[in-house]
Amino acid sequence: MIQAYSLEDLDRAAPGEVADHLEDGKIVYFPKSPVLFPATDDLEFLKNDLPRFLRRKNISYHPEADRVIGIRGGQEIQQRALQVLSAHSIAVQQVLRRILTPLTRGWTVATSSFRPFQERGRELSAHASNELVHVDAGAYGATHGNRILRFFMNAHPTEDRVWISKGGFREVYRRFGREARVAPPNGARRDLSAGSVNRLYSGLLGTVARAGFPIAALADTSPYDRLMRRFHNYMKDTAEFQASTAVHREFAFPPGSAWMVFTDMVTHACIRGQHAFIDTFVVPLSSCRRPEQAPFHVLQSAPESA
Ligand SMILES: [Fe+2]
Repeated sequence: MIQAYSLEDLDRAAPGEVADHLEDGKIVYFPKSPVLFPATDDLEFLKNDLPRFLRRKNISYHPEADRVIGIRGGQEIQQRALQVLSAHSIAVQQVLRRILTPLTRGWTVATSSFRPFQERGRELSAHASNELVHVDAGAYGATHGNRILRFFMNAHPTEDRVWISKGGFREVYRRFGREARVAPPNGARRDLSAGSVNRLYSGLLGTVARAGFPIAALADTSPYDRLMRRFHNYMKDTAEFQASTAVHREFAFPPGSAWMVFTDMVTHACIRGQHAFIDTFVVPLSSCRRPEQAPFHVLQSAPESA
């Protein structure tokens, strides 16, 4: 489930190789991050100064609006957070453009976030908790089957960031898809392409969002996105799923490391760790070389029998 790359391995990787591992549902792991961390004083600012000004569980830079959301505080604080996170976003993009062909083709660069708090024992509501295993559903509103790619970096000086996973999408769909009511009700193949009314609605919201009201995108939806949201909620709400041990893997990502994964496909929870960068990208399904592996296609057929 993990595919590790040293920086030397990365230089030697064939075009498309890293992308293929992601599409196969691997967590691509870098013991040493290929993206440089921000300078020490900027990191100290994020870790020590910013948390006092937080309004949300993390600080997020939104590139489409060139704004940082989640903090209050004076102009100086806002400006510095913007500078550090926007520079970080660009640094991540530069590396991914080099190593991730063809997935960067037509991608949407989404938020660059910093998580300043300890993940263990946050006591957030179940649907917001990172400690419960789930697949990600929706990023910037509906994805319509496009993929959610996330790149993580552990910026803590001494503590590992610890994840658990209960396997890939096809596996959890096979085991829990019917019970979660995300499988086709009559077992037949179904088409998840949005109907014309839905497409019209999505197009309208997209126009409004691009006109300067990005929040409009959050109202978007599609048959695919509704199923993914239902599966996400089922996973977080179902004790039996959280307690299942048929597939249960634990990964410790040490300080200075980085990793990336299609989080709509690989179930995950972060049970421990503090001070991480998380950069999100939405990758068009049409840029994937193995689209049949994607949740959009998996959900169109009945789960394979056990
Ligand atoms: Fe997640």
